[in-house]
Amino acid sequence: MKDKILRQLMEATDYLSGEALSRLNGVSRTAVWKHIKKLKEEGYEILSVTNRGYKLQRMADGYNREEMALLLKDIRFLKDVRVYDTIDSTNQEAKRLGAEAAGEGVLLLSEEQTGGKGRRGRTWLSNKGDGIFMSLLLRPAILPIQASMLTLLAGLAVQRAVSEETGLDSRIKWPNDVVVGGRKVCGILTEMSTDMEEIQYVVVGIGVNVNAASMDCQAAPHGTSLAIEAGMTQDRKRIICAILKEFEALYNTFLESGSLDPFLDNYNRVCVNVGSRVRVEAPGGSYVAEALHMDNTGALVIRMDNGEVRQIHSGEISVRGLYGYVD
Ligand code: BTN
Repeated sequence: MKDKILRQLMEATDYLSGEALSRLNGVSRTAVWKHIKKLKEEGYEILSVTNRGYKLQRMADGYNREEMALLLKDIRFLKDVRVYDTIDSTNQEAKRLGAEAAGEGVLLLSEEQTGGKGRRGRTWLSNKGDGIFMSLLLRPAILPIQASMLTLLAGLAVQRAVSEETGLDSRIKWPNDVVVGGRKVCGILTEMSTDMEEIQYVVVGIGVNVNAASMDCQAAPHGTSLAIEAGMTQDRKRIICAILKEFEALYNTFLESGSLDPFLDNYNRVCVNVGSRVRVEAPGGSYVAEALHMDNTGALVIRMDNGEVRQIHSGEISVRGLYGYVD
């Protein structure tokens, strides 16, 4: 009932009277008032004016399933939105759902993660309220070898959403870290399950450092948050909606074209490494080269100092700036 009232307040363009709310929901005005009180306690700013009724002035920062479903209702590829207060890892849970044959287009969103996972076996800082911790469960009709391309699209979606919503100049560090001012604000972990040559499901896990006031320099040595960079708290829910909207457009184009070609110019324009000297950290040792561009396989094309041009693939190799993480 409380969620239903919230939905009605969100959809209303003006004040909704206590009487209208009680009629719409078949409950007494006192019951309506109690639900409003509960919503206020959760952080929703609701104006109550005698003779006019209630008006939703500001959303709470916390997630609410009903509200998220409403905010994301125009994102067509999303068929289900699941919201958690706490969870081990949204990627782990998405994989559990994937194995249970949940459908395509499930979004899992958690306030915190007790076992947030990063790439290369690292952990991902996932304190309550500090960031966006979400995973998408997808079942795209693509080849397993193309699955990592979804990570690149997700990176591009986050980069665009962050720039739009915060005004910060965000970029991508190849392959898919989103950076602001040379420090990392977002990481993406894609995992998949395949059966013979077919994808069973893909999980795209996105972690964005949004409102952390400081970053643990041991756990996240190159990290920063959007709030630190912008000097003010950011609205997580607006950023989530923007990421998913951007992702949907990119995902549909990708499924239609079956390739990265439509995104390459865009990607290369916002990639911090393109045109820079990079340190390539390969299993056999590191060397310096010039990063030329990302190609349509998702590989970074580099020119070695002896003039040789070669592709590097993100699985085995990472790239740094000459002096630090990016520069
Ligand atoms: C990286 O190391 O750069 C990738 C970090 C990915 C973190 C996200 S947070 C939501 C999802 N659940 C996880 O356990 N990890 C991903």
